[in-house]
Amino acid sequence: MSVTRSFTVAIDGPAASGKGTISKAVAAHFGFAHLDTGLLYRAVAAKVLAGKEPAQAARDLVPHDLEDDALRTSLVAQEASKVAVIPEVRAALLDFQRSFAARAGGAVLDGRDIGTVICPDAQVKLFVTASAEVRARRRFAELSGKGVQITLDEVLADVQARDARDMGRADAPLRAAVDAVTIDTTEMAIADAVAAAVAMIDAKRENLI
Ligand code: C5P
Repeated sequence: MSVTRSFTVAIDGPAASGKGTISKAVAAHFGFAHLDTGLLYRAVAAKVLAGKEPAQAARDLVPHDLEDDALRTSLVAQEASKVAVIPEVRAALLDFQRSFAARAGGAVLDGRDIGTVICPDAQVKLFVTASAEVRARRRFAELSGKGVQITLDEVLADVQARDARDMGRADAPLRAAVDAVTIDTTEMAIADAVAAAVAMIDAKRENLI
């Protein structure tokens, strides 16, 4: 079936749960467009660290801002979870995300509030999670592999601080939508999680024909 209308896959979850890898694999498998919405908050954070006012930085964002490798650092990640608490920042990023989700041909969006706030009508909603220790070990391996000097304890503290901020904020807190399917990757290979996600999407698409 070629998708000529919109078909949205919403994938939420905490940092380093595997949601980014699963989202990319699912998008490649189905030929859907993919938006890592964390990058929007990271790009706003980078501008704030450079001295800009948060809401203005969010309103001024252009697609090119998402292509900066410097957005991947822990400093930017922490700042992203701080600017993400500000309702005006979230509001300024809403339309872009919703238009992306509505494109013909299918879209995968991953983040923290896709199934709950951005795309409450998404055809498929997944909540990808794992224990904080396992997520910290994954992120530590990834950062060490890139030569970043950081300890496992520092990464764990970083992950826990972001979890607390993301789950505790009043506007669009991180939580599973009531109709989301949870995939716990604590003891699951990411390849198996991808296979489970693909099967779920296949089943949903068949029902829509
Ligand atoms: O997904 P990533 O780790 O890149 O996200 C960085 C931060 O951006 C998160 O910790 C969260 O505070 C924020 N974010 C958000 N809503 C989203 C995506 C990311 O609040 N949909």
